[in-house]
Amino acid sequence: MIPLVAFLALTGTSLALPPSLFINSTLTLLECLTTNAIPYVTLLSPNWAEYATTFNARLEYTPAAITLPTTPLHISQSILCASRARIPVQPKSGGHSYASYSTGGRNGILQINLENFNSVTVDNATGIAKVGGGVRLGNLALGIWEQGRRALGHGTCPGVGVGGHFTHGGYGYSSRAFGLGLDQIVGLEVVLADGRVVYADERKNSDVYYAMRGAADAFGVVVNFYLQTSPAPPQVVQWSFSFPQALSSVSAAVGTFRGVQMFALDGTVVDRNLGFGVTISNNATVFTVHGTYFGSLTKFNSTIMPALLSRVPYTPASDSKSVVEEVDWITSLTLLGGAPTLEVPLHGYDQRDNFFAKSVTTSEPFPDEALRSYFGYILDKGVGVKAPVSWFAIINLYGGPDSQITTKTEGFAAYSGHDDFWVIQNLNGTFPSSGLTFLNGLNDAATVGVPEHGAYLNYVDPTYSRAEAYKLYYGEELYEKLVGLKKTLDPRNLFSNPQSIV
Ligand SMILES: Cc1cc2nc3c(=O)[nH]c(=O)nc-3n(C[C@H](O)[C@H](O)[C@H](O)COP(=O)(O)OP(=O)(O)OC[C@H]3O[C@@H](n4cnc5c(N)ncnc54)[C@H](O)[C@@H]3O)c2cc1C
Ligand SMILES: *[C@@H]1O[C@H](CO)[C@@H](O)[C@H](O)[C@H]1NC(C)=O
Ligand SMILES: *[C@@H]1O[C@H](CO)[C@@H](O)[C@H](O)[C@H]1NC(C)=O
Ligand SMILES: *[C@@H]1O[C@H](CO)[C@@H](O)[C@H](O)[C@H]1NC(C)=O
Ligand SMILES: *[C@@H]1O[C@H](CO)[C@@H](O)[C@H](O)[C@H]1NC(C)=O
Ligand SMILES: *[C@@H]1O[C@H](CO)[C@@H](O)[C@H](O)[C@H]1NC(C)=O
Repeated sequence: MIPLVAFLALTGTSLALPPSLFINSTLTLLECLTTNAIPYVTLLSPNWAEYATTFNARLEYTPAAITLPTTPLHISQSILCASRARIPVQPKSGGHSYASYSTGGRNGILQINLENFNSVTVDNATGIAKVGGGVRLGNLALGIWEQGRRALGHGTCPGVGVGGHFTHGGYGYSSRAFGLGLDQIVGLEVVLADGRVVYADERKNSDVYYAMRGAADAFGVVVNFYLQTSPAPPQVVQWSFSFPQALSSVSAAVGTFRGVQMFALDGTVVDRNLGFGVTISNNATVFTVHGTYFGSLTKFNSTIMPALLSRVPYTPASDSKSVVEEVDWITSLTLLGGAPTLEVPLHGYDQRDNFFAKSVTTSEPFPDEALRSYFGYILDKGVGVKAPVSWFAIINLYGGPDSQITTKTEGFAAYSGHDDFWVIQNLNGTFPSSGLTFLNGLNDAATVGVPEHGAYLNYVDPTYSRAEAYKLYYGEELYEKLVGLKKTLDPRNLFSNPQSIV
């Protein structure tokens, strides 16, 4: 058993409060939670680790308490208790924040764990799904499929939560057809900093609706999402081509990527039904182009595949990474998810990873200068025995002909990425610090000669200062607008993490 004072000292270490004041505020919080009969755990609870363990093992933090609400009123009371104690709040949905922000991104916050908000109900008449704020993507996809053969555009990992993912973007191979996660939000039930539970959409509480789609971490807690689903595609072509020769030299890599990019711009073959990305890794032979096509295998084979392959200077290797097959919607999602099933346990999810990731977003195709710099860096420092850590990059197509992401106009949401063309994610590096240095360099290399570039909110990178984060995630104009909304919706900055809007 850990003595109370040691516990308080530990959880309070990084809140900029004098210890006596901090101890008082934690005691105030716990007393308030107890008085209101809100289920909660602290470091002293036997099952603490089950709730406090972060997905990213590289970044662990100790909250002052974690509440386990079962009703919107519990969420509201949790918020009011934290407000009284002046303790910052972050909700946790799937817990997959790259920076562990749902656990605070620092010690001593109140985490509101949404695992009991796990229902999915599809209205067959409208196709709108009501989805609890703690639902994970695998269960979401299964639920809407089983209830009406419906689909949503979102990311691939079944364990990711709708709470963070849909409110900060939400990209998957289907997003060129259905939009980003946040584009499909038609209404939200939100608990605000003053404890009110409000419904927000385009007409009602439209400022809340706007801010929650892009900056939810700073504005409130989504209890329920209302998501516009689409009919699931009748079949999906799951495809991948491996070009090991592409990494034989910088000019080979640049030529291959340039070919893929020309293909991506070709409106005679590329439409919303095609979603894809390029993967590269420290394995000097891994350069794959892979994705999904919502159409028939015959059409894919006769028009799309030849158009892609004719642009690339190499023929694909006949290895395990070159695959073209037609599958049903759920099989496609399961293959992309990389787990045997999409179903995720409602309690006790215990998967973790130890990682670091960064991103580059750009609204234009990459100029040759950026490609030479990026692949030059990779071949100079990042492949085979030269790589300081194992890493991989995924470069996903958001834009291009007929993309349903880029049709959204400015002002649609508190999100700056609707005009992205490519989004690069450079992943892994973990400890040692040489890994971080390597990935920072890799990320920078991709921005050479790229006039305007940003970073993707769902790949939060805690190494950025607040100022850098605001600029890269939101840009000046959107940031100013959000600062204005924050003053009215959360003036005491209750909902906060190290990069949230203040
Ligand atoms: C293995 C893995 C695979 C991934 N794959 C993809 C992918 O394919 N595509 C993609 O776009 N991204 C992907 N991501 C990134 C992912 O979208 C983000 O990490 C996302 O924010 C995670 O959401 P979450 O609910 O699981 O995280 P959490 O850690 O629970 O939340 C993240 C942030 O959102 C806030 N938040 C959570 N729930 C709510 C709520 N109900 N109301 C308001 N705020 C809330 C939290 O306080 C925190 O600040 C992946 C991440 C991982 C770890
Ligand atoms: C402790 O916090 C409560 C509630 O905020 C406040 O009323 C009280 O004065 C505080 N006590 C000390 C010693 O700071
Ligand atoms: C919705 O439609 C599906 C079939 O498409 C059916 O199985 C289900 O029962 C319907 N749900 C409701 C609530 O009507
Ligand atoms: C690199 O990838 C190839 C193709 O997938 C594989 O056969 C090989 O074993 C990998 N090499 C290393 C060092 O991981
Ligand atoms: C499509 O192409 C793939 C890969 O070349 C091949 O395996 C498959 O048999 C082809 N299918 C059809 C229907 O043409
Ligand atoms: C990062 O690398 C470590 C060790 O090389 C590995 O165990 C882990 O799965 C990798 N994480 C990701 C996200 O690839």
